[in-house]
Amino acid sequence: MQPAKSLPCFDAGSEYCPCILAGLGKCISCSMLQGKDTCDCGWNGVCVLAEFVRTGKQARPGREQVTAQVTRLTPLARPQADYKAYLAEIAVPSKLARWCTLPGSFVLLRPEGTREAFNVPISVMETSQHSIKIAVECRGPKTTALEQALLKHRKVVVTGPFWSGLQGYTQLASLAHGNTLVIAKGMAQAAVPPIARYVRARGGNVKTLIGPGTLGVVFIDGILERLGAGFEHMPRTEDRNLGRISDEITTRSYDLLVSAGSKLQHQAILNLLDTISEGDNPVPRFVWVSHLTMVCAEGICGSCLLAGFRGCKARFDESFEVHLLH
Ligand SMILES: Cc1cc2nc3c(=O)[nH]c(=O)nc-3n(C[C@H](O)[C@H](O)[C@H](O)COP(=O)(O)OP(=O)(O)OC[C@H]3O[C@@H](n4cnc5c(N)ncnc54)[C@H](O)[C@@H]3O)c2cc1C
Ligand code: FES
Repeated sequence: MQPAKSLPCFDAGSEYCPCILAGLGKCISCSMLQGKDTCDCGWNGVCVLAEFVRTGKQARPGREQVTAQVTRLTPLARPQADYKAYLAEIAVPSKLARWCTLPGSFVLLRPEGTREAFNVPISVMETSQHSIKIAVECRGPKTTALEQALLKHRKVVVTGPFWSGLQGYTQLASLAHGNTLVIAKGMAQAAVPPIARYVRARGGNVKTLIGPGTLGVVFIDGILERLGAGFEHMPRTEDRNLGRISDEITTRSYDLLVSAGSKLQHQAILNLLDTISEGDNPVPRFVWVSHLTMVCAEGICGSCLLAGFRGCKARFDESFEVHLLH
């Protein structure tokens, strides 16, 4: 069943809209394409329905898939030997690299010759004109297959760009000139450099509290240093650093707080913000790096559902924070 409300879509206004969902009457954004009589999309960019009519009611082709060379592969020095993690640089077409600079950008990676079921969503940490840099921890079946491809063949199939790796982009856009606090743990560190770059490019300040998490390594400090973004390591503590984070929020004036971590981390920070605001203290706006499971990233498979909405497409507003707490 279609959810009652429409939400803006990450792909609206891009060359990937209208997508296959429009043709199926399942566009997450356009109530008219869902078969309703009135428009409730609230989107003030390019009208999805008008585009659909203009394209002769044809969905635009999805993202391109390219087989790409891995030009650099560096193992991360993890303290445990239970699984491996790597930093990699991948040569991609310049158009793809350019569209991966936005905060929340990610690509799907899979070994050459495997089915799309092997696609792994991976955040883009940095881009240059013809390449992207990524970090990957190899734990389950898909990332283990990817590890073998990285090590043996030095080639991967790249699909992208996708942008729904960060929820709360509107808040980031409007508050980037101010003070931003990022709480990053484990592999979710990979999503932080584009956020820090975005804030610094708009004259804002950003401080990142970084915890190694189960990954056991901090690997973005060099990039943050280059960007002139402040950071501090958070050692493991019994209270999961909530005391340290609370002190940071209450002693400085942050406009924005980015949680880059698991759903548990998002929950803990939302609860902390609630407690702080009860004491009549101002709290920063909350945005979150997506922890949702994604498989197709095109709105089809449904693995990313949050409150009935497809999280690989939908731009959630703050009313969805309550769903992170369940
Ligand atoms: C937008 C987005 C961006 C992402 N960016 C990155 C990124 O930059 N780098 C990255 O490495 N991952 C990233 N991920 C997560 C990554 O896509 C998943 O970890 C991957 O799809 C898991 O596939 P799998 O088959 O290897 O593991 P699955 O078996 O599907 O495992 C799922 C989860 O369980 C954990 N897990 C697997 N095996 C074990 C085990 N034996 N013990 C404990 N935990 C285990 C995995 O770490 C993962 O969190 C991102 C996900 C999304 C949605
Ligand atoms: S990841 Fe397939 S619908 Fe969102």
